[in-house]
Amino acid sequence: MKILAIIGSPHKGNTLEKTQQIEDKLKQLGDVEFEYIHLKDMDIKPCKGCFMCFIKGEDSCPLHDDKEKISHKMEEADGVIFATPVYSMHVSYLLKTFIDRFAYNFHRPRYFGKYAITLAVSGGLGLDETLKYLKMVADGWGFEFVGQIGLVAPPKNTPMQKLIDMKDRTDNVVGKFHTAIKEKQPRKLALSDHINFRLMQTVYSRLETMSPTDYRYFKEKGWFDNDVSYFYDNVRGSYLKDRIARIMSWIMGQKIDKAIAKLK
Ligand SMILES: Cc1cc2nc3c(=O)[nH]c(=O)nc-3n(C[C@H](O)[C@H](O)[C@H](O)COP(=O)(O)O)c2cc1C
Repeated sequence: MKILAIIGSPHKGNTLEKTQQIEDKLKQLGDVEFEYIHLKDMDIKPCKGCFMCFIKGEDSCPLHDDKEKISHKMEEADGVIFATPVYSMHVSYLLKTFIDRFAYNFHRPRYFGKYAITLAVSGGLGLDETLKYLKMVADGWGFEFVGQIGLVAPPKNTPMQKLIDMKDRTDNVVGKFHTAIKEKQPRKLALSDHINFRLMQTVYSRLETMSPTDYRYFKEKGWFDNDVSYFYDNVRGSYLKDRIARIMSWIMGQKIDKAIAKLK
Protein backbone atom coordinates (compact mmCIF):
# COMPACT_ATOMS: atom_id res chain seq x y z
CA MET A 1 0.00 0.00 0.00
CA LYS A 2 1.20 3.50 -0.82
CA ILE A 3 1.12 6.05 1.98
CA LEU A 4 1.81 9.72 1.38
CA ALA A 5 2.63 12.06 4.27
CA ILE A 6 2.11 15.75 3.51
CA ILE A 7 4.16 17.68 6.03
CA GLY A 8 3.25 21.27 6.81
CA SER A 9 6.12 22.01 9.18
CA PRO A 10 8.74 24.49 7.98
CA HIS A 11 11.57 22.63 9.70
CA LYS A 12 12.64 19.21 10.95
CA GLY A 13 10.67 19.50 14.17
CA ASN A 14 8.11 17.65 16.21
CA THR A 15 5.66 17.16 13.34
CA LEU A 16 8.26 15.35 11.30
CA GLU A 17 9.46 13.32 14.29
CA LYS A 18 5.92 12.14 15.02
CA THR A 19 5.26 11.35 11.36
CA GLN A 20 8.42 9.25 11.30
CA GLN A 21 7.07 7.31 14.29
CA ILE A 22 3.84 6.74 12.36
CA GLU A 23 5.91 5.57 9.37
CA ASP A 24 7.78 3.05 11.57
CA LYS A 25 4.56 1.71 13.05
CA LEU A 26 2.92 1.36 9.63
CA LYS A 27 5.97 -0.43 8.24
CA GLN A 28 5.90 -2.85 11.17
CA LEU A 29 2.35 -3.75 10.12
CA GLY A 30 3.69 -4.65 6.67
CA ASP A 31 3.39 -4.00 2.94
CA VAL A 32 3.91 -0.22 3.17
CA GLU A 33 5.62 2.13 0.72
CA PHE A 34 5.95 5.46 2.50
CA GLU A 35 6.61 8.77 0.82
CA TYR A 36 6.97 12.31 2.15
CA ILE A 37 6.00 15.61 0.64
CA HIS A 38 7.71 18.35 2.62
CA LEU A 39 5.74 21.40 1.63
CA LYS A 40 8.67 23.58 2.76
CA ASP A 41 10.74 22.12 -0.09
CA MET A 42 8.05 22.40 -2.75
CA ASP A 43 7.36 25.35 -4.99
CA ILE A 44 3.72 25.91 -4.05
CA LYS A 45 2.58 29.47 -4.59
CA PRO A 46 -0.24 31.12 -2.64
CA CYS A 47 -3.66 31.16 -4.30
CA LYS A 48 -4.38 34.44 -6.11
CA GLY A 49 -8.13 34.22 -5.53
CA CYS A 50 -8.96 34.44 -9.25
CA PHE A 51 -11.64 31.69 -9.04
CA MET A 52 -10.37 30.15 -12.30
CA CYS A 53 -10.18 26.67 -10.74
CA PHE A 54 -13.78 26.91 -9.60
CA ILE A 55 -15.16 28.50 -12.76
CA LYS A 56 -13.12 27.03 -15.60
CA GLY A 57 -11.46 24.07 -13.92
CA GLU A 58 -8.23 23.41 -12.07
CA ASP A 59 -6.21 23.25 -15.31
CA SER A 60 -6.92 26.97 -15.76
CA CYS A 61 -5.00 27.97 -12.62
CA PRO A 62 -2.59 30.75 -13.67
CA LEU A 63 0.07 29.56 -11.20
CA HIS A 64 2.68 27.14 -12.44
CA ASP A 65 4.61 25.31 -9.77
CA ASP A 66 4.78 21.92 -8.04
CA LYS A 67 1.03 21.66 -7.47
CA GLU A 68 0.58 19.08 -10.22
CA LYS A 69 3.33 16.91 -8.70
CA ILE A 70 1.49 16.91 -5.38
CA SER A 71 -1.81 16.21 -7.10
CA HIS A 72 -0.27 13.23 -8.89
CA LYS A 73 1.17 11.85 -5.65
CA MET A 74 -2.24 12.08 -3.95
CA GLU A 75 -3.86 10.29 -6.90
CA GLU A 76 -1.31 7.48 -6.60
CA ALA A 77 -1.63 7.05 -2.83
CA ASP A 78 -3.93 4.63 -1.05
CA GLY A 79 -3.70 6.65 2.14
CA VAL A 80 -2.68 10.20 2.98
CA ILE A 81 -1.46 11.69 6.26
CA PHE A 82 -2.06 15.43 6.65
CA ALA A 83 0.46 16.63 9.23
CA THR A 84 0.91 20.10 10.64
CA PRO A 85 2.20 21.97 13.66
CA VAL A 86 -0.34 24.27 15.31
CA TYR A 87 0.82 27.81 14.62
CA SER A 88 -1.31 30.68 15.91
CA MET A 89 -4.21 28.33 16.68
CA HIS A 90 -4.40 26.85 13.18
CA VAL A 91 -2.60 24.81 10.56
CA SER A 92 0.75 26.19 9.43
CA TYR A 93 0.86 28.63 6.51
CA LEU A 94 2.44 25.88 4.40
CA LEU A 95 -0.46 23.53 4.91
CA LYS A 96 -3.02 26.30 4.42
CA THR A 97 -1.36 27.39 1.18
CA PHE A 98 -1.50 23.80 -0.04
CA ILE A 99 -5.17 23.44 0.97
CA ASP A 100 -6.16 26.69 -0.76
CA ARG A 101 -4.55 25.54 -4.00
CA PHE A 102 -6.70 22.42 -3.90
CA ALA A 103 -9.87 24.22 -2.77
CA TYR A 104 -11.79 23.15 -5.90
CA ASN A 105 -11.84 19.68 -4.32
CA PHE A 106 -14.54 20.95 -1.96
CA HIS A 107 -16.70 21.58 -5.04
CA ARG A 108 -15.56 18.56 -6.99
CA PRO A 109 -14.57 15.91 -4.43
CA ARG A 110 -12.43 13.14 -5.87
CA TYR A 111 -10.49 11.05 -3.39
CA PHE A 112 -13.18 8.44 -2.81
CA GLY A 113 -11.80 5.03 -1.93
CA LYS A 114 -8.70 6.63 -0.40
CA TYR A 115 -8.10 6.93 3.33
CA ALA A 116 -6.79 9.78 5.46
CA ILE A 117 -5.51 10.38 8.94
CA THR A 118 -4.50 13.72 10.39
CA LEU A 119 -1.76 14.78 12.77
CA ALA A 120 -1.47 18.10 14.59
CA VAL A 121 1.30 18.99 17.00
CA SER A 122 0.88 21.93 19.34
CA GLY A 123 2.26 23.56 22.44
CA GLY A 124 -1.15 23.08 24.06
CA LEU A 125 -3.63 25.49 22.52
CA GLY A 126 -5.63 25.29 19.31
CA LEU A 127 -5.16 21.55 18.89
CA ASP A 128 -8.84 20.55 18.75
CA GLU A 129 -9.71 23.39 16.38
CA THR A 130 -6.86 22.46 14.05
CA LEU A 131 -7.77 18.77 14.03
CA LYS A 132 -11.42 19.61 13.43
CA TYR A 133 -10.45 21.74 10.46
CA LEU A 134 -8.20 19.04 9.01
CA LYS A 135 -11.03 16.51 9.27
CA MET A 136 -13.29 18.91 7.38
CA VAL A 137 -10.68 19.11 4.62
CA ALA A 138 -10.24 15.33 4.37
CA ASP A 139 -14.01 14.73 4.41
CA GLY A 140 -14.70 17.57 1.99
CA TRP A 141 -12.20 16.28 -0.56
CA GLY A 142 -13.75 12.79 -0.49
CA PHE A 143 -11.25 10.87 1.62
CA GLU A 144 -12.49 8.32 4.09
CA PHE A 145 -11.34 9.86 7.36
CA VAL A 146 -9.98 7.13 9.64
CA GLY A 147 -8.76 9.08 12.66
CA GLN A 148 -6.65 11.84 14.11
CA ILE A 149 -3.60 12.16 16.32
CA GLY A 150 -3.23 15.26 18.46
CA LEU A 151 -0.04 15.87 20.29
CA VAL A 152 1.23 18.38 22.81
CA ALA A 153 4.93 18.86 22.28
CA PRO A 154 7.06 21.73 23.52
CA PRO A 155 9.36 23.24 20.88
CA LYS A 156 12.34 21.16 19.87
CA ASN A 157 15.76 22.25 21.16
CA THR A 158 14.26 23.67 24.32
CA PRO A 159 14.63 22.22 27.83
CA MET A 160 11.11 20.76 27.62
CA GLN A 161 11.58 18.58 24.58
CA LYS A 162 9.80 15.39 25.36
CA LEU A 163 6.83 14.51 23.18
CA ILE A 164 3.75 13.84 25.23
CA ASP A 165 0.94 12.18 23.35
CA MET A 166 -1.89 13.06 25.69
CA LYS A 167 -4.33 10.35 24.68
CA ASP A 168 -1.69 8.10 23.14
CA ARG A 169 -3.97 7.31 20.25
CA THR A 170 -1.16 6.79 17.77
CA ASP A 171 -1.09 2.97 17.79
CA ASN A 172 -4.85 2.82 17.62
CA VAL A 173 -5.18 5.29 14.74
CA VAL A 174 -2.25 3.83 12.79
CA GLY A 175 -3.65 0.31 13.21
CA LYS A 176 -7.07 1.40 11.99
CA PHE A 177 -5.49 3.24 9.05
CA HIS A 178 -3.52 0.16 7.97
CA THR A 179 -6.52 -2.17 8.32
CA ALA A 180 -8.84 0.21 6.46
CA ILE A 181 -6.48 0.40 3.47
CA LYS A 182 -5.76 -3.34 3.49
CA GLU A 183 -9.36 -4.49 3.77
CA LYS A 184 -11.18 -1.68 1.95
CA GLN A 185 -14.41 -2.58 3.71
CA PRO A 186 -17.52 -0.71 2.55
CA ARG A 187 -17.75 2.66 4.25
CA LYS A 188 -20.69 2.90 6.64
CA LEU A 189 -22.47 6.13 5.78
CA ALA A 190 -23.62 8.46 8.54
CA LEU A 191 -26.70 10.65 8.18
CA SER A 192 -24.37 13.58 7.49
CA ASP A 193 -22.82 11.68 4.54
CA HIS A 194 -26.25 11.06 3.01
CA ILE A 195 -27.23 14.70 3.58
CA ASN A 196 -23.96 15.97 2.10
CA PHE A 197 -24.44 13.92 -1.07
CA ARG A 198 -28.12 14.80 -1.56
CA LEU A 199 -27.58 18.51 -0.88
CA MET A 200 -24.65 18.72 -3.31
CA GLN A 201 -26.65 16.79 -5.90
CA THR A 202 -29.60 19.16 -5.43
CA VAL A 203 -27.54 22.34 -5.61
CA TYR A 204 -25.22 21.33 -8.44
CA SER A 205 -28.01 20.01 -10.67
CA ARG A 206 -29.26 23.61 -10.76
CA LEU A 207 -25.88 25.17 -11.60
CA GLU A 208 -25.54 24.36 -15.29
CA THR A 209 -25.19 28.02 -16.23
CA MET A 210 -23.89 29.48 -12.97
CA SER A 211 -21.16 26.93 -12.28
CA PRO A 212 -20.78 24.83 -15.44
CA THR A 213 -17.51 23.14 -14.46
CA ASP A 214 -18.96 21.80 -11.22
CA TYR A 215 -22.15 20.83 -13.06
CA ARG A 216 -20.23 18.95 -15.77
CA TYR A 217 -18.08 17.17 -13.18
CA PHE A 218 -21.14 15.89 -11.33
CA LYS A 219 -22.85 14.92 -14.59
CA GLU A 220 -19.83 13.05 -15.93
CA LYS A 221 -19.52 11.15 -12.66
CA GLY A 222 -23.19 10.12 -12.99
CA TRP A 223 -24.01 11.80 -9.67
CA PHE A 224 -27.26 13.27 -11.01
CA ASP A 225 -28.60 9.86 -12.06
CA ASN A 226 -31.80 8.72 -10.35
CA ASP A 227 -30.45 5.41 -9.14
CA VAL A 228 -27.29 6.88 -7.56
CA SER A 229 -27.36 7.27 -3.79
CA TYR A 230 -23.75 8.23 -3.02
CA PHE A 231 -20.51 9.41 -4.64
CA TYR A 232 -19.14 5.87 -4.99
CA ASP A 233 -20.21 2.29 -4.61
CA ASN A 234 -18.11 0.79 -1.84
CA VAL A 235 -20.46 2.05 0.88
CA ARG A 236 -23.14 0.77 3.22
CA GLY A 237 -25.90 3.33 3.19
CA SER A 238 -29.18 3.44 5.05
CA TYR A 239 -32.56 3.66 3.32
CA LEU A 240 -34.05 5.68 6.18
CA LYS A 241 -31.14 8.14 6.41
CA ASP A 242 -31.22 8.59 2.67
CA ARG A 243 -34.98 9.33 2.80
CA ILE A 244 -34.33 12.02 5.43
CA ALA A 245 -31.52 13.44 3.29
CA ARG A 246 -33.78 13.44 0.22
CA ILE A 247 -36.52 15.33 2.09
CA MET A 248 -34.03 17.93 3.33
CA SER A 249 -32.54 18.38 -0.11
CA TRP A 250 -36.00 18.61 -1.70
CA ILE A 251 -36.83 21.51 0.67
CA MET A 252 -33.50 23.12 -0.19
CA GLY A 253 -34.22 22.61 -3.90
CA GLN A 254 -37.54 24.43 -3.59
CA LYS A 255 -35.84 27.38 -1.93
CA ILE A 256 -33.14 27.53 -4.61
CA ASP A 257 -35.74 27.34 -7.38
CA LYS A 258 -37.62 30.27 -5.83
CA ALA A 259 -34.41 32.30 -5.54
CA ILE A 260 -33.50 31.53 -9.17
CA ALA A 261 -37.02 32.45 -10.32
CA LYS A 262 -36.66 35.83 -8.59
CA LEU A 263 -33.41 36.49 -10.48
CA LYS A 264 -35.17 36.06 -13.83
C1 LIG B 1 4.87 30.76 14.95
C2 LIG B 1 4.43 29.75 15.97
C3 LIG B 1 3.14 29.79 16.44
C4 LIG B 1 2.70 28.87 17.38
N1 LIG B 1 1.40 28.91 17.80
C5 LIG B 1 0.96 27.99 18.67
C6 LIG B 1 -0.42 27.97 19.06
O1 LIG B 1 -1.23 28.75 18.62
N2 LIG B 1 -0.80 27.05 19.95
C7 LIG B 1 0.07 26.15 20.49
O2 LIG B 1 -0.34 25.33 21.29
N3 LIG B 1 1.36 26.12 20.11
C8 LIG B 1 1.83 27.00 19.21
N4 LIG B 1 3.14 26.96 18.80
C9 LIG B 1 4.02 25.88 19.32
C10 LIG B 1 4.07 24.68 18.35
O3 LIG B 1 2.78 24.25 17.98
C11 LIG B 1 4.78 23.48 18.96
O4 LIG B 1 6.03 23.86 19.43
C12 LIG B 1 4.91 22.33 17.97
O5 LIG B 1 5.46 21.22 18.63
C13 LIG B 1 5.80 22.73 16.82
O6 LIG B 1 5.88 21.68 15.87
P1 LIG B 1 7.11 21.69 14.84
O7 LIG B 1 8.34 21.33 15.64
O8 LIG B 1 6.77 20.63 13.81
O9 LIG B 1 7.19 23.05 14.25
C14 LIG B 1 3.60 27.89 17.88
C15 LIG B 1 4.90 27.85 17.39
C16 LIG B 1 5.32 28.76 16.44
C17 LIG B 1 6.73 28.68 15.90
